[in-house]
Amino acid sequence: MDRLIFDAHAHYDDEKFDTDRDEIISSLPDKGIFAVVNNGVDIETSLKSIEFAEKYPFFYSAIGIHPQSVTDIDISRLEEYMAQIASLLDNDKVVAIGETGLDYYWDIPKAPQHIVFERQLKLSRDTSKPIVIHDREAHGDTLDYIKKYCPKGLLHCYSGSAEMLKEVLRYGDMYISLGGAVTFKNARLPVEVAKVVPLDRLLLETDAPYLSPVPYRGKRNDSSNIIYTAQKIAELRDMSVTDILKFTKENACRLYF
Ligand code: NI
Repeated sequence: MDRLIFDAHAHYDDEKFDTDRDEIISSLPDKGIFAVVNNGVDIETSLKSIEFAEKYPFFYSAIGIHPQSVTDIDISRLEEYMAQIASLLDNDKVVAIGETGLDYYWDIPKAPQHIVFERQLKLSRDTSKPIVIHDREAHGDTLDYIKKYCPKGLLHCYSGSAEMLKEVLRYGDMYISLGGAVTFKNARLPVEVAKVVPLDRLLLETDAPYLSPVPYRGKRNDSSNIIYTAQKIAELRDMSVTDILKFTKENACRLYF
């Protein structure tokens, strides 16, 4: 089988994989998975991500601090954490900084989110490593940072409008990824975006174990389910699934490698 599936964003360190992680991950290449980028959300999970990338040849890692983690860390030690992250970026299998960003959906104080996100944007700029951005109900501020730093990176699980996408693509070297949400019955924005996103800017992701596409919505997600997301996007764009997989794989390789 051709391995055409590139899962641009996943969390296999999540406890939902504790019982059968190795079995699931080892089965992925036979299901057409070419590569997976596992994302840390704090120092501990970033180190886990690197561990997986060293264990499985087709795994790569992104390392960073997620907005939902900012209340768990001692912000006065941020420079220490950043130095630790920076020292790990030399590893060939660490392909990005993240996941970081802004989350206004959950009740998390905004000030530390901004400090931690902006610090990682600077690290990305200084090291030329792409950045993986989480934007949940924080579109305006996220766009402002993209305009300010013009990063190379990924807006993962893109949930903004087609209008916002046009703006995002005017600055820096940005890509977006779409996941299971595009297959949901009530999906409106992701469907609109899937139809118009330039083909050289689109990646596919799972955000596993979350956000399984239909017909597995609500169940634990893994990279083999990307085929359903690809099928839906192929349908929306009147293209073949193979072409969607080829383009998105190429784009992910251009972004990360
Ligand atoms: Ni994520």
